[in-house]
Amino acid sequence: MKKKAGLTSNRKLDHIRICLEKNVESSYTGFEDIQFIHNALPEVDLDAIKMESEFLGHKFSAPIMVASMTGGHPETTRINRNIALAIQNLGLGMGVGSQRAAIEDSSQKESFTVVREHAPDAFIYANVGMPQVREFGAEFVEKAVGMIDADAVAIHLNFLQEAIQPEGDVESSGCISTIEKVVGILDVPVIVKETGSGISRETAMILQEIGVSAIDVGGKGGTSWAGVEVFRSPENSIQKELGVQFWDWGIPTALTVIESSEFLPTIATGGIRTGIDVAKSIAIGADMAGVALPVLKAAATDHKAVERVLNTFILGLKTVMFLTGCRELIQLRNVSLLVSGMLKDFLEERGVDIKKFVRGR
Ligand SMILES: Cc1cc2nc3c(=O)[nH]c(=O)nc-3n(C[C@H](O)[C@H](O)[C@H](O)COP(=O)(O)O)c2cc1C
Repeated sequence: MKKKAGLTSNRKLDHIRICLEKNVESSYTGFEDIQFIHNALPEVDLDAIKMESEFLGHKFSAPIMVASMTGGHPETTRINRNIALAIQNLGLGMGVGSQRAAIEDSSQKESFTVVREHAPDAFIYANVGMPQVREFGAEFVEKAVGMIDADAVAIHLNFLQEAIQPEGDVESSGCISTIEKVVGILDVPVIVKETGSGISRETAMILQEIGVSAIDVGGKGGTSWAGVEVFRSPENSIQKELGVQFWDWGIPTALTVIESSEFLPTIATGGIRTGIDVAKSIAIGADMAGVALPVLKAAATDHKAVERVLNTFILGLKTVMFLTGCRELIQLRNVSLLVSGMLKDFLEERGVDIKKFVRGR
């Protein structure tokens, strides 16, 4: 398996380099079309605001996680250590990147085990790709969980990227029954996680029926994996052209959060760029928000830089709560929102009653 493992490991490094150096973001999360109504007399003291939250039985100081990114190459150990130190210090959580490379080649394990070492108390989720779970079953997932003593595991879906990259895994039949089997065997919660194209109400309903514990929507509007493939593909290749065509494919994050959270606890991920986006996510139904790309840039520096980025998110969220008169996170679910533009049209098309967002406190 070593040769294949080397390929997986080098591909991960390519992804990081491209995400650090190029603009790989897609357009429109849907948060652009959500506004809070400002409360000029909030009757709340900023210092009294509580942002503590609970997710899958774990307590967080604020509803923020660093979404899965990396591991699987020696050069990624430092990045994961910096993220782990920061989330441990701030009482947040994180996911590791796909653990495939370390399961195929145990010499790559340190880039993942470093996370639990530096974040002994934090919520950490393991990460495996759907194609590998389909091929190797629950045992593969158990190895990933055991490797980092994970609190949960995310099975990630990235069929868009698989379809575009030349070496992609494009067999998707039987995935639903595979996830159901894994859920039945594993003794930690299973999160199903998209990586930039979102999860529809129809898919969320199936995931609830087969016993999945939570959804990470991975909606459109943040990192685009079709976009990443554009930079990895040879000049004039069909892959490059397909990458351009599918760059903005997917369900905008705000819409997928609204649809998924009807069925399961939900992490809003995909283009979460400020504490205001986190607040909007919670207001429309998410339990947590996940941030990847903005943290990568800081994690390439040091853990203080990661803490600075995450503290900016936390303070942004707190400021929204202050300016909308919320003492506790749950109150964000009752503040009035203005929903307009394309998001309003999409919600109407999908049969969501948008009047429920115009709610008085
Ligand atoms: C460099 C990089 C590597 C990633 N690797 C993984 C991965 O291995 N597994 C996974 O589930 N998601 C992976 N993701 C996807 C993120 O977890 C997240 O869903 C996506 O980037 C959207 O969030 P963002 O817009 O804040 O970047 C990766 C993202 C980045 C930027």
